[in-house]
Amino acid sequence: MKTILHAENITKVYQTKMARHEALKPTSLTVHEAEFVSIMGPSGAGKSTLLNLLSTIDQPSEGMISINGEDVTSMTEKQLARFRRERLGFIFQDFNLLDTMTVEENIALPLALARVEKAMIVLRVEQVARQLGVEDLLKKRPVELSGGQKQRVAAARAIIHQPSLLLADEPTGALDSKSATGLLEALETLNEQGATILMVTHDPVTASYAERIVFVKDGELFREIHRFGTQKEFFEQIMEVQRELGGAAREFV
Ligand SMILES: Nc1ncnc2c1ncn2[C@@H]1O[C@H](COP(=O)(O)OP(=O)(O)OP(=O)(O)O)[C@@H](O)[C@H]1O
Ligand SMILES: [Mg+2]
Repeated sequence: MKTILHAENITKVYQTKMARHEALKPTSLTVHEAEFVSIMGPSGAGKSTLLNLLSTIDQPSEGMISINGEDVTSMTEKQLARFRRERLGFIFQDFNLLDTMTVEENIALPLALARVEKAMIVLRVEQVARQLGVEDLLKKRPVELSGGQKQRVAAARAIIHQPSLLLADEPTGALDSKSATGLLEALETLNEQGATILMVTHDPVTASYAERIVFVKDGELFREIHRFGTQKEFFEQIMEVQRELGGAAREFV
């Protein structure tokens, strides 16, 4: 199995004049090609801190991270910007679509930035738009879309350049349950087609779409569970760990 991401003893210390806060204690994590991994844990546990380090948005205080065999912790800002653009895909809670552009232009952006040939871009936009069920929205602008539609457009943009790794922080956070299910089913399909996905969520239903969940507590990896049996059974298992974690997990009936 090919390793897509490897983090070795990474830490994050936030240092202000007043205080020193160790948001992430030495943590190691490996994600293989075509895995769908979720990061869970109580609020303030360090999930976003961990994802920001793994996604090269932030630098670890110590430790090493490699993605697709490349050491991203030793790259210059310029090299990193290029690496992110070419190798990574991002989905955020607040969509981050550009309102001045059409859906089509938004989705095409990573390829346009990489100066891919126009005909190729048109072809790829058609492909991913169909994959995410937004092919009828291409001429619209983001303001004309619902939250769920926007998030599927954001997902299409995140995968158009076939990134080595797709990163998502609370991708369903702003969606109603129907839209969330649509997005998660799309992510599941992408994963079945070989995409490697790393997703932070506090929602057990969202997490149950992953095949492995890493729980973070007080800046440390607390537990790791693998999917077995049905999604419902996995959900029950997640709830059990949540109860153990003592977080403010809501009960689902
Ligand atoms: N820029 C920063 N400066 C100082 N402390 C920070 C900074 N960012 C995060 N922290 C602290 O680090 C800890 C972990 O924060 P983080 O955002 O990773 O939590 P989280 O697990 O994503 O929580 P949530 O579920 O609420 O999003 C928290 O105690 C937070 O206050
Ligand atoms: Mg967070």
